[in-house]
Amino acid sequence: MPPITLNVNGKAHAVDVDPQTPLLWVLRDTLNMTGTKYGCGIAQCGACTVHLDGEATRACATAVEDVQGRKITTIEGLSADRSHPAQLAWIAEQVPQCGYCQSGMLMTTAELLKRKPKPTDADIDEAISGHICRCGTYPRLRKAIKTAAAMAAPRPAAPKPAAKGAAR
Ligand code: FES
Ligand code: FES
Repeated sequence: MPPITLNVNGKAHAVDVDPQTPLLWVLRDTLNMTGTKYGCGIAQCGACTVHLDGEATRACATAVEDVQGRKITTIEGLSADRSHPAQLAWIAEQVPQCGYCQSGMLMTTAELLKRKPKPTDADIDEAISGHICRCGTYPRLRKAIKTAAAMAAPRPAAPKPAAKGAAR
């Protein structure tokens, strides 16, 4: 069987696996990208969320043969230096407890902010409704999503200084 080529975080990886293998196993076990977590394995908890062409997707329920030629982004590729507004807001609001669910939460948040730069409470609830956090970080998580949206918002331009000799 020819290897399958995956585009992960901007790099091509040829992997020699069964085409039906879930993307999650390949990311973690073959490519050693362990930031994406295994929670339930049946698309119910959100721990394994990655982006496929920018769309939040459960890697545990996605066969690698179906993602060839698509752009896969994992938590390792969300930003080069952990400077994505969601990552900064997570630190500012001290969201994680054990941390296990958090990379999935961050990937869903990043997608939400792209779709809705100013998410309402209802938008946030809808986005994270399929994510399970056993530590109950939901209140801090909701706050952090608002903080991330504020951080990502374009700042108003500074007023221009008055021209010399202008009337005061
Ligand atoms: S591990 Fe994929 S949704 Fe739970
Ligand atoms: S922070 Fe522990 S499961 Fe969410």
